[in-house]
This record gives sequence, structure tokens and C-alpha cells, in this order.
Amino acid sequence: MILLKIFVVPFLAVCGYAVEITVASSGGNVTVMLGYGAMEEEINHAGDGGLYAELIRNRAFQGSDLYPSSLDAWEAVNGAELALQSLADPLSLALPYSMNVKGNSSVIGFKNSGYWGIDVQAQTYTGSFWARGSYNGSFTAALETSAGDTLISVEIDSESVSDAWVQHNFTLTPTSPASDTDNVFSITFNAAEADGGALDFNLISLFPPTYSDRPNGMRKDLMEALAVYGTKFLRFPGGNNLEGETVGDRWIWNNTIGPLTSRPGRASTWDYEETDGLGLVEYMEWCDDLGIEPILAVWSGLALDETVVSESEIDIYVQEALDELEFLTGSVDTEYGALRAQYGHPDPWTIRYVEVGNEDYLNGGLDSYISYRFSAFYDAITEKYPEISIIASTIEMTLPGNANGDYHMYDTPDAFVEAFNQWDQYSNEHHYLLGELAATEYNGADVSQMYPWWSGSVGEAVYLLGAERNADKIIGATYAPLMCNIDSYQWTPNFIAYDADTAATAPSTSYYVYQLFNQHIITNTLPANSSTGFGPLYYVAGLDNSTDERIFKAAVYNSTGDVPIGLTFEGVDEGTTAQLTVRTAPEATSANEVGGANVVSTNTTTLTAGSGGMFSFSLPNLSVAVLVTSSSTA
Ligand SMILES: *[C@@H]1O[C@H](CO)[C@@H](O)[C@H](O)[C@H]1NC(C)=O
Ligand SMILES: *[C@@H]1O[C@H](CO)[C@@H](O)[C@H](O)[C@H]1NC(C)=O
Ligand SMILES: *[C@@H]1O[C@H](CO)[C@@H](O)[C@H](O)[C@H]1NC(C)=O
Ligand SMILES: *[C@@H]1O[C@H](CO)[C@@H](O)[C@H](O)[C@H]1NC(C)=O
Ligand SMILES: *[C@@H]1O[C@H](CO)[C@@H](O)[C@H](O)[C@H]1NC(C)=O
Ligand SMILES: *[C@@H]1O[C@H](CO)[C@@H](O)[C@H](O)[C@H]1NC(C)=O
Ligand SMILES: *[C@@H]1O[C@H](CO)[C@@H](O)[C@H](O)[C@H]1NC(C)=O
Ligand SMILES: *[C@@H]1O[C@H](CO)[C@@H](O)[C@H](O)[C@H]1NC(C)=O
Ligand SMILES: *[C@@H]1O[C@H](CO)[C@@H](O)[C@H](O)[C@H]1NC(C)=O
Ligand SMILES: *[C@@H]1O[C@H](CO)[C@@H](O)[C@H](O)[C@H]1NC(C)=O
Repeated sequence: MILLKIFVVPFLAVCGYAVEITVASSGGNVTVMLGYGAMEEEINHAGDGGLYAELIRNRAFQGSDLYPSSLDAWEAVNGAELALQSLADPLSLALPYSMNVKGNSSVIGFKNSGYWGIDVQAQTYTGSFWARGSYNGSFTAALETSAGDTLISVEIDSESVSDAWVQHNFTLTPTSPASDTDNVFSITFNAAEADGGALDFNLISLFPPTYSDRPNGMRKDLMEALAVYGTKFLRFPGGNNLEGETVGDRWIWNNTIGPLTSRPGRASTWDYEETDGLGLVEYMEWCDDLGIEPILAVWSGLALDETVVSESEIDIYVQEALDELEFLTGSVDTEYGALRAQYGHPDPWTIRYVEVGNEDYLNGGLDSYISYRFSAFYDAITEKYPEISIIASTIEMTLPGNANGDYHMYDTPDAFVEAFNQWDQYSNEHHYLLGELAATEYNGADVSQMYPWWSGSVGEAVYLLGAERNADKIIGATYAPLMCNIDSYQWTPNFIAYDADTAATAPSTSYYVYQLFNQHIITNTLPANSSTGFGPLYYVAGLDNSTDERIFKAAVYNSTGDVPIGLTFEGVDEGTTAQLTVRTAPEATSANEVGGANVVSTNTTTLTAGSGGMFSFSLPNLSVAVLVTSSSTA
């Protein structure tokens, strides 16, 4: 996180005056901006326990040096003995640990508490587990309340044998929803009929219906929230998550593909072992399902423990990136393109943006990044894929050729407002991703907030308007982090917060700012002049060349009252109508909390241009607004 506070906008503490703004009909710039997107990484259980719809936590006892395998989230049923074991004959090399379940009483088993609860609705859940050991009886799989009341159960005939791992599939279809998410999933069996009273279990999985009905897919309500947001791109797989604590812990693309039995999982950067069930292919399917642009980040030779790969070894990792790109974009005649086809995707994907690393200006990485690491990736990828735009993970370097930069900012609302004209200072020779943005602390208070709050969101809005004014230089912008499971998180505030209860999901106040701005993408900026300059009203004007609609986006920050505005678009005549959407919240500190009501109000009105084609309206303190004219312009 770095702060650029060099360009300070003079603040005009004027009130009660009309701001008159005239927008020219031509003379602006062609935008390169995709719009507003998302940045996903395994922080705050954004993947496992979040977007990735798996309901069973610690399903395959995956572990690492940092987070050793354990029986976390599992509990015995009817006095069974549960033991973590590493068998000579594991389910797979990637999943070496399993759970031995042993008991004397007839019906024994185990249960899982999910990602801090399980949402049980009247819908079909798809489950599977692998068992090993001679057993000719049946299994019972069930969803139960934590108090032990069965919500739904199913009998599964055992196919389990002594010398092999056998998969058992089942479905559970409750006929009514549970009263809350304080539920568990259990499997029981008759120990008296099992050889030695014991069986081995691994990869115990349960999915609700997923977004777009994809097997191994994504949680519906969270993907729907991203669809409503209108996200335009996805930057993945991080973030710090890409980097890893050590070189060995980095995100390795080909450990995240193929059958779940061949994915070892990984020590995430964020204090837990991730399953990698949400892997490279699932990220691409996520982009396909939302129709958005992937921004693929590749590991650049820097780990968070400040290890830097030497110049003589960097080519190993450049090759990894090239292999990954071949997997995604190569024809089925290539080695890795053939592998992609084998995993169900014969058609190549298109990758237009590759980011080299993450925040390489931190952790002692900048010198080596500038001297050889960035250029090694840039040269090799550009040579093989000249159509791909390469993004450096910093703006603190001289960018070669047509390379682009990534800028991150975590700060106070005031700092975001003061940086309104940051991008005016840059030329459009290179383009910039605003890959991580968030107002994290109140002005003057050095404390990170739990949730985005309204004045912070308006501060961000001001900054985004400054970026849109320079949309010929900006690739896109995104709040970060994207998601937060409030039952297990490492960082606040976040864009969307949730827990196991799919009805309690809380898109933040910032979400409603980004979402409003994302609804109308400006394809060409238009010069606009005003009687007062910027502050407390900040704005951008432009047009959508597919409809010829004129678009005006604005935010008011720090005014002492309503700001009356007279807005004229050259070529838009008296009588033309426009839709004005204004978002506000009751208090500067208002926030959206999980399970709570949305504090952001939306007021949409239709305005008609008066004499001289002027639209007259006023915007309150701490508001964001978008005005769009009807498409008929003179
Ligand atoms: C089974 O019973 C034996 C003898 O009563 C006892 O020692 C053992 O702990 C029991 N095992 C389990 C898993 O209950
Ligand atoms: C269980 O389901 C998986 C995934 O659909 C499938 O690949 C597998 O063949 C099924 N196994 C059995 C034993 O039906
Ligand atoms: C299950 O049935 C098979 C085949 O009849 C038999 O070999 C095996 O011993 C049985 N297992 C148990 C635990 O009874
Ligand atoms: C992943 O790919 C690299 C080459 O890029 C190869 O050395 C490695 O063995 C592969 N790993 C797996 C698990 O296939
Ligand atoms: C907002 O107002 C406060 C108090 O009047 C002032 O300290 C602060 O600098 C202002 N912020 C901006 C970005 O104008
Ligand atoms: C609209 O603008 C975009 C750039 O934002 C440009 O790529 C496209 O060609 C333009 N379309 C028309 C019809 O002018
Ligand atoms: C277009 O870009 C030029 C050069 O960067 C800049 O001076 C001008 O203000 C921009 N125009 C608009 C309308 O943003
Ligand atoms: C803004 O530009 C228009 C012409 O496009 C001009 O008539 C008007 O005087 C200008 N207003 C200000 C405040 O500069
Ligand atoms: C306007 O918003 C600022 C925060 O930016 C707040 O300090 C101020 O009290 C607000 N003014 C009014 C009149 O509500
Ligand atoms: C919505 O905006 C209109 C026009 O600015 C205003 O008259 C009306 O009171 C607003 N409604 C609400 C609920 O704020």
C-alpha cells in the first residue's frame, strides 16, 4: 500500500451557489476503460467458505508445513473414534491424509460443521465421499440441526471394499428450509458390519445448486451479487495470495486443475489451507459465466518472506507462466492445450491482460523487479503473445514499450478526495489498472473499519471520477478485498460481506457506488467546464457511443448543504429528458452489515431540459449521482 498525496485539490468551502457546467459535444478522449471489476484471492475465506460453493470444511484433510493436516470441523457421532492417518495406500498422491472412523456401538459416524454453519433450503444438494474398508451395509448421509434433529437423510448402499478407495455419490433434497444455518452434515454407518469396526474416509463433499449449475461451482447468491454489480473484469488469483509466504507456497497453476483428487491444496497467504477446488479452470468459468474480462496474474519471482528469485533462475518461472498461457489459450495440438481439452474445454480462452506479480514494490522486490524480473516476463510473453497487454504490479518504474502499471491505494476518505486529480498528471502512453482501492479508516483515526461506510464510499467515488476523467489511461478499477466471510476473516473492510446464511449477504456502501458508476460506461469523455472548478462537487462527463446518450457522473463530498447544479450538454436541446439517479445514506458512518438492511437509498427521477437545454437539480452533501440523457441529441 502506498500513498500518493502530491496533487492536492484546492477545496472551495462555498455553499448555496449554483454550479454551472457546460459539456462540449466533441473533443474528448476515447476511453480504454473496461469499467469496474473485481479482485479475487483466498483472503477472508473469499473462495473456500465463500464464492466456492463447497459446504464441507476440511473435506480432504489437506495440509502443509504452515497449516498441518487436522480434523478441524469434524466431530464424532455416537462415540466413534476419529483418527487422522497417512496410509501407504492413500486416495491419491495429492490427498495423502484420510480419516479413520472406528467404534463399537452399532451406528457410528462423524459430522462436519461446514463453513461456520450450513444453509439448508428446499433444493437438491449433491454429495460424494470416498470410503475404504470391507463393509456390506449402508451409509446414512444427513443434514441435521446442531441439536441433532434430522432435516433430511438418505441411505447409500456401501460399495466399500478392503483394498481400494471407492467413491459414493448421493443427493439430499430437503422439502422445507431449516430455521437457521446452525446445521451440520453427518455420515453414519453400522460399525458392527464393518471389518474391524472401522472404515477410512476422504474427500467428503456436499454442494448446493451452483451458479449456472456448474459441478464444483460457485455460490449462487454471491455470484448474483457480482452480476448485479455488473463487474467487468476479474483479477486473479491475487493479491498476496499469488505470492505465497515462501517460494514453495506460491500459487502454482497446475496444482489447481484436473480432478479434485489431483489437487493437493495449498498454504494460503491468509492463515489457512486452501483446497484449490476453486482453481484456474473455475476462475475462467467464472469469467465466462459473467461475461467478463480475465486479468491473469502470474508469479513474478517474489515471495512475501522477501525471497527473490535470482536472474539465473527466473526463466524457470517465466516458463511456468508461458505454460499456463498455453493451457488457457493454446490450440488442442499443443501440450497444455490438449490438457485443457482433456479437462472439458477444447475451445481456447482469450487472455488480453496479464499482470506480472503483485505489489513488487514491497517486500524488498522493487530493485530486482526493475532490473530483470519484470523484463524477463514482459519480453517472453510479448514475444509469444504480442496481443496481450502486460501489466506491471507497480507504477514506481519506467514502463517499457506498451507495458502498463497497477496502482493500489488503502487510505482515508480525505486522501481519496485529495487524489482526485492524480491521473491528470499522467500521459496516455501507458495504461493503469487501479487494482486495489479502499477507504479503510475514518479521517484522522488510525483504525481499520469492519465495513465500508458511506463517507468512505463517497471519498472513493470522488477518486473514481478522477480516474474516469482520464479513462484514456485507466484500464479499470476495483475495490479490494472483494469478499469477507465474517466468521473467519483476516482483513477489513471488504466489498461484500456474508456468512453461511445466503439470505444475509451484505453488499457494502462502496458496492452501491461502484455499481451505479458501472451501469453507464463512458466510451468517450467530453470536455466540461464549470464556473467553480472541482470541490465540493466532483464530476466527469462523456457519452456512450453505442446509444449517443450523454452521461454525467458526480459526487458531493464535504459540502455544507445541497449543491444546486445547472448542467448543459452542447447539442442537447430544451425538452430532452434525462434520468437522474442519486444515492445517499442517512449518516456519514452508515454501513451495510451482514443480515442488516441496505442503508444506501436510491432516488431516480426524470428531468426535462429547460431553456438553453439546461438540466437543473441539486445534490446533497455526501451523495453520488449519475445523469443519463435520452438518446435523441440534436
Ligand atoms: C470399544 O470397546 C473396547 C472394549 O470395551 C474399548 O476398549 C474401546 O475403547 C472401545 N472403542 C471405541 C471406539 O469405542
Ligand atoms: C460420482 O459422481 C462423479 C461426479 O459426477 C462421477 O464422476 C463419478 O463417476 C460418480 N461415481 C459413482 C460411483 O457413481
Ligand atoms: C462383504 O461381502 C464380501 C463378499 O461377500 C465378503 O467377502 C466380505 O467379508 C464382507 N465383509 C464384511 C465386513 O462382512
Ligand atoms: C506443472 O508444470 C510444471 C512445468 O510448468 C512441471 O514442471 C510440473 O511437474 C507440473 N506439475 C504438475 C503437478 O503437473
Ligand atoms: C473536509 O472538511 C474537513 C473539515 O472541514 C477538512 O479538514 C478536510 O480537509 C476536508 N477534506 C477535503 C478532502 O476537502
Ligand atoms: C466507441 O468507442 C470505443 C472506445 O471507447 C471504440 O472502440 C468504438 O470503436 C467506438 N464505436 C463507435 C461506433 O464509434
Ligand atoms: C484528453 O486528453 C488530453 C491529454 O491527456 C487532456 O489534456 C484532456 O483534458 C483530455 N480531455 C478530456 C475531456 O478528458
Ligand atoms: C464553457 O464553455 C462554453 C462553450 O463550450 C462557453 O460558452 C462558456 O462560457 C464556458 N463557461 C465557463 C464557465 O468557462
Ligand atoms: C458533509 O459531509 C462531511 C463529511 O465529508 C461532514 O463532515 C459534514 O458535517 C457534512 N455537512 C453537512 C451539512 O451535513
Ligand atoms: C427524490 O428526488 C426528487 C428530485 O430531486 C425529490 O423531489 C424527492 O424528494 C426525492 N425523494 C426522496 C425519497 O428522497
